[in-house]
Amino acid sequence: MTYLTRLLAGTAIALSLALPAAAAEYRIAVGDGAGGTQEALGKAFIAALDEQSGGKMTGKLFLNGQLGDEQDTVTAAATGTLDFSILAINNITPFSPTVGTLTLPYVILSLEDAEKITQGDLGKQMVDKTVEDAGVRIIGWAYSGFRVLTNSKKPISTVADLKDVVVRVPKNEIMIETYKSWGINPTPMAWSETFAALQQKVVDGQDNPYMTVYAMKFDEVQKYVTNLRYIFSIEPLIVSEQLFQSLSADEQKQVLAAGEAATKASGEFLRAEEAKIREELVKRGMEIADPADGEKEFISLATTAVWPKFYDQIGGKDVLNNVLTTLGREKV
Ligand code: MLT
Repeated sequence: MTYLTRLLAGTAIALSLALPAAAAEYRIAVGDGAGGTQEALGKAFIAALDEQSGGKMTGKLFLNGQLGDEQDTVTAAATGTLDFSILAINNITPFSPTVGTLTLPYVILSLEDAEKITQGDLGKQMVDKTVEDAGVRIIGWAYSGFRVLTNSKKPISTVADLKDVVVRVPKNEIMIETYKSWGINPTPMAWSETFAALQQKVVDGQDNPYMTVYAMKFDEVQKYVTNLRYIFSIEPLIVSEQLFQSLSADEQKQVLAAGEAATKASGEFLRAEEAKIREELVKRGMEIADPADGEKEFISLATTAVWPKFYDQIGGKDVLNNVLTTLGREKV
């Protein structure tokens, strides 16, 4: 070895000792655009992960489905080609039917209900089931509010008003059956295709929370809003189980702690922002109405027809009854 190569090798070793190792940067898929609850959860998670790991782990958000449609990101994370994803729970149900309990119409009736279930024992059981069924681990939860119905055709306040309105739903059996109970055949469609379908009037409407309507700029292609409360949207942050198992015990703890911190921040974000976002959508020209008669007809048709159809899929009627009793409601 010449003097020069010895000198260069020595300098490289000294530099590598002096510099901190590069942080592991994980890719986090996000189904929605900027400004919604998914992005807020992602940002809070990255900040908490940086802090928990002393800068050794961080993440990068890829908004607007850049890393694939929400349902496809579950498969990608399960096979280890994607690290994390933030998506609506209804897009995990096809891979892990028990979480469908949280998508059954009129089960989760408030943000407090959502927090109680997801942050309690039932939430932990659902996390275990999802690892087992889908190969992904839920490590955090975003809370997005009720999925309100939007459309470009007319104000809707009764079940009868839905006739002749073509509504897009996620590829989720529970949601398809819910609209069927209201007398129409909805159009199942991937989330990533929804804006274009609304714009080109392939479909007239869709449902999603105010925060999502705003993040996706749906006000540009939708006019009327009906304040349905059939699903309170819960949006998990999932990690590839393969990735999670490859981490050291300390790193796993840091990831879980960051997920918990982000979950707490998500509830606060929704409490602070939802009313403002709703006002902003009105300023942009959206017209908001409540369903007629306290939504009674929607509620009775959906709960009577849809709940019993899914007892088997969600793991038995007891799974629903556990959720209902935890929320202080009557069993079915
Ligand atoms: C969907 O409608 O497919 C999802 O709820 C969209 C979302 O993740 O916000």
